[in-house]
Amino acid sequence: MNDSKIALITGASRGFGRSMATHLAKAGVSVIGTYHRSTEAAEELVTEVEENGGRIAFLQFDAARTDLFAAFAVRVSDVLSGWGAQRFDYLVNNAGIGSFAPFATTTEEQFDELVAVNLKAPYFLTQRLLPLLADGGRILNLSTALTRGVVATGSAYAATKGAVEVLTRYLAVELADRGIRVNTIQGGATDGDFGDGIMRTEHVKDLAVKAIALGRMGTADDLGAAVPALLSAEFGWATGGVIELNGGQSL
Ligand SMILES: NC(=O)c1ccc[n+]([C@@H]2O[C@H](COP(=O)([O-])OP(=O)(O)OC[C@H]3O[C@@H](n4cnc5c(N)ncnc54)[C@H](OP(=O)(O)O)[C@@H]3O)[C@@H](O)[C@H]2O)c1
Repeated sequence: MNDSKIALITGASRGFGRSMATHLAKAGVSVIGTYHRSTEAAEELVTEVEENGGRIAFLQFDAARTDLFAAFAVRVSDVLSGWGAQRFDYLVNNAGIGSFAPFATTTEEQFDELVAVNLKAPYFLTQRLLPLLADGGRILNLSTALTRGVVATGSAYAATKGAVEVLTRYLAVELADRGIRVNTIQGGATDGDFGDGIMRTEHVKDLAVKAIALGRMGTADDLGAAVPALLSAEFGWATGGVIELNGGQSL
C-alpha cells in the first residue's frame, strides 16, 4: 500500500475497527481512529501502533450527535494539518451498535437509536467529511449478513444495515465524478463484544456456526485483515458493491 495514505475509521477502539486500524497501520497507512467510550482501549492501540512504527491519532466521536459533526470535522482537519496533509484518502464508516428484540416488542427508542448510530451517522458524517476526502478516495460502509439471511429479533438492526447498502449504491453514483469508490463490507457473526455481549451467548454461537458455511464464527481479524487489500489500487474497479466477508453466512 502507498505509505502516504491516510484512513479515518470510526469505532476503531474495539472489534472490527480496531483490527482494521492495526492492519492498515502495518501496511503503512496513517490512521485517524475514533472512540466513543473506550478511552483506555484507544490509548492502548496508540501505544501498540507507535511501538510498531505506525502513525495513529484518536478522536472522541459520538455517532448519535450529528450536531457535533461540524466540530469533529475541524478536529480531523487539525490532525491532518499536524501531519502536513489537507485531505485523507479512506473513510471507513464502521462504528455501529446492535440491539435485538422480537418485532412485536421492539421499542421506538431502540429503533431510533439504531437508526441514529447505524444509518444517520454514516450519512451525515460522510456528507460533512466530503471536503476533506481526497478525489480518488474510498469509502467503506459496514453491513451485515442479516440483511440477507433473516434471524428473528434482528428486524430493526438489519433494516438500518439494508439502508446502508442502498446508501452505498447512491454514493457510488453521486461521488463517481470525483473518482471516489464506495463499497459495503457485509460482515458476519463474529465472536466479540458487539450487541452488548449477545454474540458470546451459547444460543447465538450455535445459530451462527450452523449458518456459516466455513463452520465457525468470525474473528475481528477475519475482516480487518482484508481491509488494506479492499482499499488498494488493485480493487479500484469495485464501486457500489457489497463485499461479503462472513465465512459464507446464510448462503
Ligand atoms: N460483530 C458482528 O457480529 C458484526 C457482524 C456484521 C457487521 N457488524 C458491524 O460491524 C461494525 C463494527 O462492529 P463490531 O463487532 O466491531 O462492534 P464492537 O466490537 O461493539 O465495537 C463497536 C465500535 O463502535 C464504537 N461505537 C459504538 N457506539 C458508538 C457511538 N454511539 N458513537 C461512536 N462510536 C460508537 C465503539 O466505540 P467505544 O468502544 O469507544 O465506545 C467501538 O469502537 C458495526 O457497524 C456492526 O454493525 C458486526
